[in-house]
This record gives sequence, C-alpha cells and structure tokens, in this order.
Amino acid sequence: MNSYLDIDHISITFPTDSGPLNVLNNVDLNVAKGEFISLIGHSGCGKSTVLNIVAGLLNATEGGVVLEEKEVTEPGPDRAVVFQHHSLLPWLSVYDNVRLAVDQVFKRTKSKKERHEWTLHNLDLVHMGHALDRKPDEISGGMKQRVGIARALAMEPKVMLMDEPFGALDSLTRTHMQDSLMEIQAELNNTVIMITHDVDEAVLLSDRIIMMTNGPSATIGEILNIDLPKPRNRLELAEDPAYNHYRAEVVKFLHERHQTLTKDESSEKSSVVSLSSKSRQADDENQKKSEVVKKASGEY
Ligand SMILES: Nc1ncnc2c1ncn2[C@@H]1O[C@H](COP(=O)(O)OP(=O)(O)OP(=O)(O)O)[C@@H](O)[C@H]1O
Ligand SMILES: [Mg+2]
Repeated sequence: MNSYLDIDHISITFPTDSGPLNVLNNVDLNVAKGEFISLIGHSGCGKSTVLNIVAGLLNATEGGVVLEEKEVTEPGPDRAVVFQHHSLLPWLSVYDNVRLAVDQVFKRTKSKKERHEWTLHNLDLVHMGHALDRKPDEISGGMKQRVGIARALAMEPKVMLMDEPFGALDSLTRTHMQDSLMEIQAELNNTVIMITHDVDEAVLLSDRIIMMTNGPSATIGEILNIDLPKPRNRLELAEDPAYNHYRAEVVKFLHERHQTLTKDESSEKSSVVSLSSKSRQADDENQKKSEVVKKASGEY
C-alpha cells in the first residue's frame, strides 16, 4: 500500500539474561500525511519500542519502516523525537537550544537572517518568545517542554514522534500544551505519533487511537477512528455523546486487557511488574542512546 509512513509488519526480539524476549509481534500500521496517531496500552507493552524503531534508534528484527518510500535505517532530522523529559542543553539559552537545531538542518538552505527569524517564529508558536535568553534551569518544566517542541517543529520533520510528551506536567500546563499542539498541528498539518497514558488526551488530539495488546509479543489490538470535527474544544466535547463513546471504548479496551492480566496467576503478574520496571530502564537507555546519536549527528 502506498502510504506516507508505513510501519510494515514489525517484530522485535531482545536478547535478555533469561533468553530472547519477543516484545513486538507483527505491528502493522499505515499512517497518512498530516495524521495524528496516538499509541495507547499498558506499561511495558512496547509503545516506546515502536516509536524508537520509527525514529531509527532501534532496528526491528523483522519487517521495517518506510517513510515517503525511503526505508528508515537510522535517526534523521525528518523524524524529530520529543521525550517525556525534555532534553535541552543546560548551558544554552532557550533561543540557542532551538537555533542550534535550525542551524544544523538549514545551514545550506536558509540565510543567517532567515535562520534567526525561523528560530523566533517557532518559539513564538509555543508562546516562548518572551524568554529567549533564559537558561533551561531558569524556566518551568512546562516551558522546557515547549522549547523541546519548538526545537522539534523548527526542524520541519516529516514526522513528530512524541513519547508521553506531557506526562510530567501538572494538569493545567498539560491542558495548555494540548491546546497549543492542536493549534500548531492545524496550522502546519504535521504527521504525529504520540504515546500517551491519558485517555482524554488521546481522544481530544487524535485522528486514530492505536490500542496495543499487553506484552510480551504485543501487537495492535484495536484501532479507533476518532471522527470528531476539528478544531476540537475540550469543554464542548465533555458533553458530546460521541466523545464520551470514544472515551469509553478506550477505557473498556484497557480495562478488559488489564482484567485478563489480573485474572492470571500472580507469578505471571509479577513477571509483568518486572517487565515494566525493565521497560523504564530500557526507556532510560533508549533516551541515553538517542542523546548520543543526536550529539553525534550534531542535531542539537
Ligand atoms: N533493549 C532492550 N533489551 C531488552 N528488553 C527491552 C529493551 N527495550 C525494551 N525492552 C522490553 O520491551 C518491553 C517494552 O518496553 P517499552 O519501553 O517499549 O514499553 P512501553 O509500552 O513504552 O512502556 P511504558 O508505558 O512503561 O513506557 C519491556 O518489557 C522492556 O523491558
Ligand atoms: Mg514507554
């Protein structure tokens, strides 16, 4: 099929101390240009692994990823990643953190003046134009996250990959960030894959919600098309029966999956617990790895 982003029957097996661990089994998804996709599923099922394969930070054991007819084999500026915890360089100002990425991507195609204006434009998009000279430790968590998003947007990636981007924020800041992301996406028509644990966030932002089964050997369980007109308004939607129907579908999916887990023997339950703590480690490792890759490719 001729799609913009083709996640083509990917499976991945990791070697572990207790033998090979098949984390993903036959995950297959075609994403259209401009589509907003959310990935949702229980902790440790393999959501970050999917994202990291699309980012080129991990290679699938079977299958592969094709973006605009080009196979993904390594990280690249056409796929910007936004992590749950921001990854700004602490010694650079807000402006310089974004400018560095802009210089990397547009060194040859934009003049110095254009790069300056482009940096300001993207910081304005996330309402950070007032804090250009501040260092990351002089701004709040939500502001850091916004700078991270501005940096990702400024690279004009074909795909934005967001791993629980608002997970660490308080609910008010999270609400603001969701609204700005909706505005930005409406304006720029970005293709986005976002991992979230927040059902309302998923329904509010997405065109489709991909619900993953529990691991090991996780795969796509169900796909929910969110057929709500855009722009969406959270207050109006709160009373909208269609919105509440979608919300209930996701909760039902997660709850039913969870029930099958808790019904299982406690030994299996404890293996799930150890898997999810392992997944945190793996997340940290992936994050470290991507920092190294970003630095090596001069993406900062
Ligand atoms: N490099 C690795 N080596 C071994 N196992 C790994 C590796 N990376 C991930 N895993 C395992 O793959 C599984 C899925 O991890 P992943 O981080 O993708 O889960 P997740 O769905 O993002 O979870 P969470 O919601 O907690 O972030 C976990 O069991 C994890 O331990
Ligand atoms: Mg994860």
